[in-house]
Amino acid sequence: MTGAGTAGRAAVAAARGVTRHLSFAPMMDHTDRHCRFVLRQLTRETLLYTEMINANALVLGRRVDLLTFAPEEHPLALQLGGDDPTTLAAAARIAVDLGYDEINFNVGCPSDRVQKGRFGACLMAEPERVADIVAATRAAVDVPVTVKHRIGIDARDSYEELLAFVDTVARAGCDRFTVHARKAWLHGLSPTENRTVPPLRYGEVHRLKRERPGLAIEINGGFVSRKAVLGQLGLVDGVMVGRAALDDPWMWSRADSEIFGGPSDPLADRVAFVAALVPYLHGITGAGLKLHLVLRHVLGLFRGTPGSRRWKHGVAELARRSDAAAIGELLSLARGLSESAESAESAESGGREAPACEHPGS
Ligand SMILES: Cc1cc2nc3c(=O)[nH]c(=O)nc-3n(C[C@H](O)[C@H](O)[C@H](O)COP(=O)(O)O)c2cc1C
Repeated sequence: MTGAGTAGRAAVAAARGVTRHLSFAPMMDHTDRHCRFVLRQLTRETLLYTEMINANALVLGRRVDLLTFAPEEHPLALQLGGDDPTTLAAAARIAVDLGYDEINFNVGCPSDRVQKGRFGACLMAEPERVADIVAATRAAVDVPVTVKHRIGIDARDSYEELLAFVDTVARAGCDRFTVHARKAWLHGLSPTENRTVPPLRYGEVHRLKRERPGLAIEINGGFVSRKAVLGQLGLVDGVMVGRAALDDPWMWSRADSEIFGGPSDPLADRVAFVAALVPYLHGITGAGLKLHLVLRHVLGLFRGTPGSRRWKHGVAELARRSDAAAIGELLSLARGLSESAESAESAESGGREAPACEHPGS
């Protein structure tokens, strides 16, 4: 790609507002709409992603219900999986008509199931196909179209191969690249192992940004604190955080001010967070559903504080219930633990490093 081309692309990308300093990753079985609603209470600016949705299910199976989201979730990106440009473009069109802010393609998942469908990380071996997908989608929608991928796969993991992939896809109009900074082995490692065993190679993502300054590059993999995110922002355009958003949600309650430079954050303390969830929780119990749907996403709220164990235990108990009284008990539990949590935190003065992920394969 020429310098003028990348500069032009950067201008379009900036106009479309594609560069966000922080996003929370797409995670199957986790980032459903309840999880996203919970995360959105903590930060207004962070880009949220859905779980990966199979474009075939959406278009051929007519499962538009898979796209349900609440207006509060914006800004919200849909992650699609698939390998057929026409189907993916049609799926994107449906999503954008419903109000999604961005469309992202999964070129990073190495699971056997995804490989059988010939999508996910194995598409890194077919940059032209990914380019066709991006081009077809760019023609179908007017929101940012982005790709999440790995540094490489199997033996195709040199920096030069990464660059060739990115250049090919950039020519098709990809608005942002989210690079999970480790390669994936397509055979022999489970998806969980593929998130821990191949080493993180941040240097190659930084080099990509240096050598393609006009492209929007977001780095992903292993970032667990605001401090770690801030440390990347001079080197790349943004950071995607996955497991640490689930394990330590409160860590990100200061993202709007510290990472986005905004004037304030939405919540004063953890009690305010739980209070903000109360109407939503009443909606759940009112529909006769178990609080577990939502509360499983707040288990890490007191992580790193003296009350962490009591909170998890208490929430696990309350999550089994579907009565409104449980919501009041949840709030009381948070009030009871909050004071010691806030004083433990002020002793550490904010920028603590979160411990390594509790359930890396979750
Ligand atoms: C439970 C789980 C489910 C995931 N599902 C997806 C997915 O649907 N699509 C995707 O692109 N990546 C998926 N990932 C990978 C994450 O988006 C992210 O790339 C990875 O966890 C590395 O980031 P982290 O170290 O910040 O967690 C998943 C990760 C986890 C832990």
